[in-house]
Amino acid sequence: MLKIAVETKTPRQLTGQALVVPFLDNKLLEHNLLKPLYQKLPQLAKWLKDSGYKGKPGSVKTVATMGALNFSQVIVVGLGEKKKLKLEELRKAAALTAKEAQSHQVKKLVSALSLVELEDCTTQDIGQVLTEGSQLALYRFEKFKGKKGEKGSLNQIQFVVSGAKSQRDFRAGIKIGDVGSEGALLARDLVNAPPHHMTPLTLAKEAKKLKGIRTRVFDHRQIKKMGMGALYGVGMGSNNPPVLIEMHYKPKGRVKKSVALVGKGITFDSGGLSLKPPQFMETMKDDMAGSASVIATMGALAKLKPNVEVWGYVASAENMPGGKAQRPGDVVKAYNGKTIEVLNTDAEGRLALADALSYLGKHRKVDYIIDIATLTGAALVALGELITAAIGTDQKLVDQLKTAGDFTGEKLWQLPLAEEYWEGFKSEVADMKNIGGKFAGTINGALFLKNFIPEKAKWVHLDIAGPSWAYKPTAYHAVGGTGVMVRTFLRFLSEL
Ligand code: BES
Ligand code: ZN
Ligand code: ZN
Repeated sequence: MLKIAVETKTPRQLTGQALVVPFLDNKLLEHNLLKPLYQKLPQLAKWLKDSGYKGKPGSVKTVATMGALNFSQVIVVGLGEKKKLKLEELRKAAALTAKEAQSHQVKKLVSALSLVELEDCTTQDIGQVLTEGSQLALYRFEKFKGKKGEKGSLNQIQFVVSGAKSQRDFRAGIKIGDVGSEGALLARDLVNAPPHHMTPLTLAKEAKKLKGIRTRVFDHRQIKKMGMGALYGVGMGSNNPPVLIEMHYKPKGRVKKSVALVGKGITFDSGGLSLKPPQFMETMKDDMAGSASVIATMGALAKLKPNVEVWGYVASAENMPGGKAQRPGDVVKAYNGKTIEVLNTDAEGRLALADALSYLGKHRKVDYIIDIATLTGAALVALGELITAAIGTDQKLVDQLKTAGDFTGEKLWQLPLAEEYWEGFKSEVADMKNIGGKFAGTINGALFLKNFIPEKAKWVHLDIAGPSWAYKPTAYHAVGGTGVMVRTFLRFLSEL
């Protein structure tokens, strides 16, 4: 992680390798603190104009100052038009400038992005998003590389902020941004780890490492004995036994609200006997991304300490087609007593979650239940790789999560919980099948899970099959796990 801090000196008093200057509404950012610099380097504006620079969002230009300033380079970053400017553009601009600085061997970067003001946004918010963009952009997963990539040079970013109150607010934003990003990066690490390494037991070990969180692990014997036949069944075809992980965060004093987060933790989804074709298996180490987000969120809560009680659950198994694997046609019984005819062993996430949700429903009384899972390829078809599908029983809860996602740049879109489709799940031999009708796969996933949620519970199901994985790099994602929803959960939980 980078060291992000507030720069209390004005740019005029500063020296360093590089200074970031925003370009907004077709000109270099107008600000009293920057004026003296522009006066010393009048060629900058002219050169930008002559070179046809328009300052489109996502564009950067690095200019050598040739001794005109105390900085040897100015990194100009485009923000587009002020009236269209949103926090997400600032987050992206911070990401791009961090990467640009890195590519120019800059060690310590001074940034004036913090001088941009946005309507309806607090200084704390701006501090948070600039921190997030910077921290998330430089992530690479290199633990398993023999030769490490070029060691990043950038280790510090100083954001220019003037005035004691603003500096204090901005620092509060840095704290939240740092903790949230650290969480998201932990989730990425858990997802990106090769699947032979990240087994259910390894995941449990990772959960136990969290400081300030009480963690309990049910092993495969307990799972079987307690009657969690659905989760147990998913793990049968693998030599790596399944686990159910329970984590608990409880702040000091009286809590206002309690929430349960439940993550799908299939450490590898081969499809089981309903085997996936090879191309579809390539990214299936990502099938524990939901659980990675839950684990990372729990760890971050202990650092942010919001006044809300949170239970975290992870239903983890490896879905393999070994000799003991469950077969299409097998009937399993979940913890709540309902029986399920497993007709497609590749619809395993809902089976694993069924037991975690039943357990939680029986033993914990919480105000809200949120499950998060790479549940259906259909979510990827419907909403693509950037948007999480949200389906729930409580509109207010859906809206609160959507609002949190709008703030963090992690988009959610609601699909209906259309009970009409339930008939597709009717089974001849059990209470239900594990697959529904041909269409509306994502809604079907939610309809199945609903059987394991207490009646009247305020519940939202999040299908992150798309956004849990970056198929191509973006401003602040490298190819691979994204750590999606960690920051959104933290925002949601802090605003409750
Ligand atoms: N893990 C997959 C869903 C998935 C697909 C996640 C692509 C990320 C990218 C899940 O277990 C699965 O295989 N679902 C099946 C359900 C079907 C058999 C009802 C699917 O989506 O095809
Ligand atoms: Zn599957
Ligand atoms: Zn799966």
